[in-house]
Amino acid sequence: MFQTVTKVLATLTISTALLVSPAFAEPISIKFSHVVAVDTPKGQAAEFFKKRAEELTQGKVKVEVYPNSQLYKDKEEMEALQIGAVQMLAPSLAKFGPLGVKDFEVFDLPFIFNSYDDLHKITKGEIGQKLLAKLEPKGIKGLAYWDNGFKSFSANTPIKTPGDLKGKKLRIQSSKVLEAQMQALKAIPQTMAFSEVYQALQTGVVDGTENPISNFYTQKMHEVQKYMTITDHGYLGYAVIVNKKFWEELPADVRTQLETAMVDATDYANKIAKDKNDQDLAAVKASGKTEVTVPTPEERAVFRATLIPVHEKMANRIGKETIDAVYQAIDFKK
Ligand code: LMR
Repeated sequence: MFQTVTKVLATLTISTALLVSPAFAEPISIKFSHVVAVDTPKGQAAEFFKKRAEELTQGKVKVEVYPNSQLYKDKEEMEALQIGAVQMLAPSLAKFGPLGVKDFEVFDLPFIFNSYDDLHKITKGEIGQKLLAKLEPKGIKGLAYWDNGFKSFSANTPIKTPGDLKGKKLRIQSSKVLEAQMQALKAIPQTMAFSEVYQALQTGVVDGTENPISNFYTQKMHEVQKYMTITDHGYLGYAVIVNKKFWEELPADVRTQLETAMVDATDYANKIAKDKNDQDLAAVKASGKTEVTVPTPEERAVFRATLIPVHEKMANRIGKETIDAVYQAIDFKK
């Protein structure tokens, strides 16, 4: 009798140990949803993060990446993150307005950044960190900024001057600054989820759009846009964000490993972004479907002069303090 009880107890102890032993625990799952193609700066960086995170945590974490709006479109993915249906996203900085965090629209101001170097003074500095902290009351933690690139205008008619976009329906992301930008061109802004843009261009629901070339090419917009002008008039990049509760409840060692994976993925993203856009520009040209024009400095200056007043107009929405801090950090001159 005594022996039987001992055996049962021993078995119970072993099975309890098996249950709680991390070696037998289910991996922690991170669903990472995004809206662009795999072969883009964001798509590649997400894959890099998956690989690095799984490596560093030695399988304790499994990252499932869902590209191309497979799981959720723009607005839905934000909601999904907040309720914990997915754990990680990397929305463009132009998509935080509807969440009530309007300060991020400073990144959308036309002609504010002259280069990636300018931009990194913000994303790798104190201002960038302060902006990410504004997400916390929304149940979101900002982990990093990932680059994409500078945007160009496209349409089915040539774009040499701002007047060429007058009256055109142009697709924008959900940013009031981008809305004001299109209005300054006397165009008609149409807010639309990224996943719907190709079809909207194809069917004529919109006449044109603005994008970094990597998005333009990988969504095959060159098939449905005859002209593109390399205006580099604005920046498009990302904030990598997680559900705050999920992140804070991770075992501390796992969280540290994931932080390292994110630092590595960020370096990688920022290293490939420009090259990827350059390669895709070459591919668009080679396709022969979209005629690509580089404006002269004088032509570009006309776009700049037309769009700079948007800064003043949107100061109240973004916050004058944020705009001034950015101006100062990059030594911006109107
Ligand atoms: C867009 O909607 O145009 C972009 O934000 C898509 C993306 O994530 O790059």
